[in-house]
Amino acid sequence: MEVIIRPDPQQAAWLTAQLIARRIQAKPDLVLGLATGRTMERVYAELVIMHRRNGLDFSGCKTFNLDEYIGLTADDPHSYRYYMNQHLFNHINIAPGHTYVLNGAVADVKAEAARFEAAIHTAGGIDLQLLGIGESGHIGFNEPLSAIMSRTRDKALTPATRRQNAALFGGDMERVPKRALTMGVGTILDASELLLLVTGKSKADILARAVEGPITAMVSASAVQLHASCKVIVDEAAAACLQGRDYYDWIFANEPEWAEFRS
Ligand code: F6R
Repeated sequence: MEVIIRPDPQQAAWLTAQLIARRIQAKPDLVLGLATGRTMERVYAELVIMHRRNGLDFSGCKTFNLDEYIGLTADDPHSYRYYMNQHLFNHINIAPGHTYVLNGAVADVKAEAARFEAAIHTAGGIDLQLLGIGESGHIGFNEPLSAIMSRTRDKALTPATRRQNAALFGGDMERVPKRALTMGVGTILDASELLLLVTGKSKADILARAVEGPITAMVSASAVQLHASCKVIVDEAAAACLQGRDYYDWIFANEPEWAEFRS
């Protein structure tokens, strides 16, 4: 794992978008795992800019989103399908049929989860999975005690997560759905590469527990420590509780792979 600290959320998002763009340029048929949430909005805005200005080409890509609220239809402005269309898919040249977002409005969520896992398998597996972290330590909607080997399934959301996301539902936690479909921790760990973006001081404590603490199902994000290829991009505020930052800063300042991103 590498932890890279950038001065502010904009620069952290810019670096994340640059890494995604490089992977697409190296493998035009990249299978890209995507996340939603406020942290990712800047990343998608950067990718849209790169598509418009530099012709970043998504036409060969397939995408798989981490999660979706149960009970929301695709045209509900609170659904993650709607979010992805608004922030990314409507503005780039990806075939709509190549964008997979779990359908939270189906009657049989278990069948939907199985279909999603099969679609990932048919696509040849996820090359690069983008992740954010919730204040409960979740990645996707893998709330505390999610098995590290879990697969895509339905999951009850913690009150902490529903509170965290209430702002997107008019500030009313009661309007936030109680359950979601989510890629499992094990499904996430199957991706060839992980890219975790974390910004803001509200994430500082949980980020340190995820990256430097013990691997535990109580903090699903700590499972990324098991992955052989994981980059964690954070801003100064989110880095506030990290113990090992001297080393992380040294890596960014000295390792050749980061040279092109140093100013
Ligand atoms: C959403 C997802 C979640 C978010 C996390 C952070 O698809 O995977 O794990 O990444 O809840 O959300 P924000 O960025 O809104 O703080």
